[in-house]
Amino acid sequence: MPNLKCPSCDHPLQLTGNSWHCDNGHRFDRAKRGYTNLLLAQHRRSRAPGDDKAMVQARTAFLELGRYQPLADALLAGLGDDDQPWLDIGCGEGWYTCQFAQRLGSDNGVGVDISKFAVDAAAKRDRALTWLVASGARLPLFNDSQQRIFVLFTRLFTDDIARVLKPGGELIVVGTGEQHLLPLREALYEEVRQSGFDAGKFLDARFTQIDSQDIHLEWIPDDEQELQNLLAMTPHHWRAKPEAKAGIGKLVGKAMNAHFVIQRWRRI
Ligand SMILES: C[S@@+](CC[C@H](N)C(=O)[O-])C[C@H]1O[C@@H](n2cnc3c(N)ncnc32)[C@H](O)[C@@H]1O
Ligand SMILES: [Zn+2]
Repeated sequence: MPNLKCPSCDHPLQLTGNSWHCDNGHRFDRAKRGYTNLLLAQHRRSRAPGDDKAMVQARTAFLELGRYQPLADALLAGLGDDDQPWLDIGCGEGWYTCQFAQRLGSDNGVGVDISKFAVDAAAKRDRALTWLVASGARLPLFNDSQQRIFVLFTRLFTDDIARVLKPGGELIVVGTGEQHLLPLREALYEEVRQSGFDAGKFLDARFTQIDSQDIHLEWIPDDEQELQNLLAMTPHHWRAKPEAKAGIGKLVGKAMNAHFVIQRWRRI
């Protein structure tokens, strides 16, 4: 069981029955589904921060088609099978997290997301993993406690990652490369912006890069629902004009591509 710290006073939390508590009397009940909300009201910017229910459902439906399995496989291929604490920040509904758990162990793992809907869905997938509603900016974990941290398609909170990662520990970051979803972006925008991914823009001298790997995938979307789910997983869902979004059905049956960048960094 991972060691958690109290978000109110930083003392260790202990699990008794279905509630975590510290020696200062702060208590956090574990929901029936098996996750715990450690996000304090004063640290929430909105009532329901992070991805909403519809976004979580769209992502689940898309990921379960398996189109992105080669990315998960590439991530797994880079892992050892040591028995060390690990963490997935912005874990969403845990599709990747649970695959990491099969290799690295559920008992040592923590999945953190600021969205209650995402963590609620994740907790259904693996009862043995510790699932937390918390912000990546204020992890309820102790300094130098993690051997491995995953950050997939979400913001890098450099200071807290540096704080909880052990010296010598590994940070695995995944972002989207410049070619990502090119046919979709061409259908949505008159001019397609090129933007590559480099975690180095956010990391500093506390980290040193181990390697960087580009993953290119191609597949044929089955139907418009698949494309709408894919769109709902991306920032284009917010950015693109409604009429452009309504027209993506024309991409059914045509090649779609994904371009991911996996970067591994070591904590000095
Ligand atoms: C694009 S999704 C990626 C989810 C998952 N890593 C995956 O690849 O399937 C980004 C996730 O980051 C979460 N998120 C956003 N801000 C966050 C924060 N401050 N702390 C933790 N998670 C956050 C969102 O709720 C969402 O689930
Ligand atoms: Zn406390």
